[in-house]
Amino acid sequence: MKVKSICCLGAGYVGGPTMAMIAAKCPEIQVVVADMNSKRIDAWNSEDLPVYEPGLHEIVTSVRGRNLHFTTEIREAIAAADMIFVSVGTPTKSYGIGAGRAADLRYVESAARLIAEISRGHKIIVEKSTIPVKTAGAIKTIIAANSSSKASFEVLSNPEFLAEGTAVSDLQNPDRILIGGEPTSGGQQAVEALVSIYAQWVPRERIITTNLWSSELSKLVANAFLAQRISSINSISALCEATGADVDEVARAVGADSRIGPKFLKASVGFGGSCFQKDILNLVYLCESFGLPHVSEYWRQVVHLNDWQKSRFVEKIVRTLFNTVNGKRIAILGFAFKKDTNDTRESPAIQICRDLLREHAHLTVYDPEVSPESIRQDLAEAGVSAKIIAENLEIHDDPYTAIEQAHALVALTEWDEFKTLDLARIYQLMLKPAFVFDGRAVLPLAELKAQGFETFVIGKGH
Ligand code: UDX
Ligand code: UDX
Repeated sequence: MKVKSICCLGAGYVGGPTMAMIAAKCPEIQVVVADMNSKRIDAWNSEDLPVYEPGLHEIVTSVRGRNLHFTTEIREAIAAADMIFVSVGTPTKSYGIGAGRAADLRYVESAARLIAEISRGHKIIVEKSTIPVKTAGAIKTIIAANSSSKASFEVLSNPEFLAEGTAVSDLQNPDRILIGGEPTSGGQQAVEALVSIYAQWVPRERIITTNLWSSELSKLVANAFLAQRISSINSISALCEATGADVDEVARAVGADSRIGPKFLKASVGFGGSCFQKDILNLVYLCESFGLPHVSEYWRQVVHLNDWQKSRFVEKIVRTLFNTVNGKRIAILGFAFKKDTNDTRESPAIQICRDLLREHAHLTVYDPEVSPESIRQDLAEAGVSAKIIAENLEIHDDPYTAIEQAHALVALTEWDEFKTLDLARIYQLMLKPAFVFDGRAVLPLAELKAQGFETFVIGKGH
């Protein structure tokens, strides 16, 4: 079977860039990205895309209107497609059974019901959203119970491994593509149809095909292993501070072992992003549901350690500033969960700013890509009152005005532009003693010290 027309439900950080890449690499396929959020679709159709990713704008503008289209006409898009990607959100449930751990699958379920209602002929449904193992089974059951006798379906799992900030190069040159399908002949034909799309630009040996459950589970496990490395090195960062060891030196020495490898060993104020915490909690809940409390507790510790790393950082700031930050101006550099993205989901900056505001600090925030509205909304959702946001939070569009008259500078995102800040000028602007708390080891430590700053960098013995 040859796919001529693709539709993707969900124009988010995953759906948008992934479909743009497929459209660019497969000019013979029409790709339609559908989302119920009309503001988001308008943004995808404008010059100001809703997702910031290096290189994304070029790709989108080169194919938009040719074989890439963004629409809110979800029904039409489903009806016209041979293959439907489901890339809607799967947030952690905040209520009821499994609250705080289980994935909320209501958007995936409503997508399945809509596909069943509208479809005629043969359709391949591809799960792109990260979901708990066995979701493909649920999708199939819902579709079988609701679809027309004129329709037939295959369900595939094709998790996305792109990281934000490097989405375009990850899509262009992925380590692997994972496709799970059923062992039946129909299932295998569907797998082949999707393999042949990726094979237009990805070498065959990097396209891994598995059964459905292995594919669904592998995505959760990959993210859990990556996050575990960060929590492991972050636990060692605390020990380094206590002993005078230097976490970067330890990470370098440990990572030089080829069995361990150097990547994802950078100590930080904690991992953020829409996936790691959500996927580990999802794994934790799965283990609980399958009666494996020891396994679930093992993975839960990865998240605990991450939360502890963030609170440990706030405590260090308060203790260092003579046990009070009440009324003190604290400049926050960076709010995104990592550089090169405007995404703030689960960004450590949210918890850190909230906790500093609870200590009655006055925050002055600068981030080159995150909008002031997102910052205010994130803090409001984290429980900061409108009054505190109005009175004790300033958002600046220039790092130097944010730093002026500050008691402390706190670097929370490793934006490249922070590496070239004029440190002498910053020192002049700040109150003395001028404290720097670097949660990502982004500022040059030796130069800071030479300028006269008091420095606190995660994992360096002080
Ligand atoms: C999402 C999932 O959260 C993640 O688990 C998966 O790995 C990839 O897809 P992301 O693209 O980052 O991640 O999410 P988000 O940016 O929130 O995009 C989801 C989009 O789906 C939103 O634009 C939302 O409006 C849309 N949506 C959601 C629908 O169009 N219909 C729905 O019923 C629900
Ligand atoms: C992650 C996975 O990498 C990707 O494969 C998956 O599909 C989605 O989740 P993403 O969340 O976009 O991608 O970013 P990633 O680069 O993995 O960073 C996650 C967090 O870990 C960031 O807050 C980052 O700053 C932090 N991190 C990363 C560290 O603290 N130390 C490191 O060594 C690496």
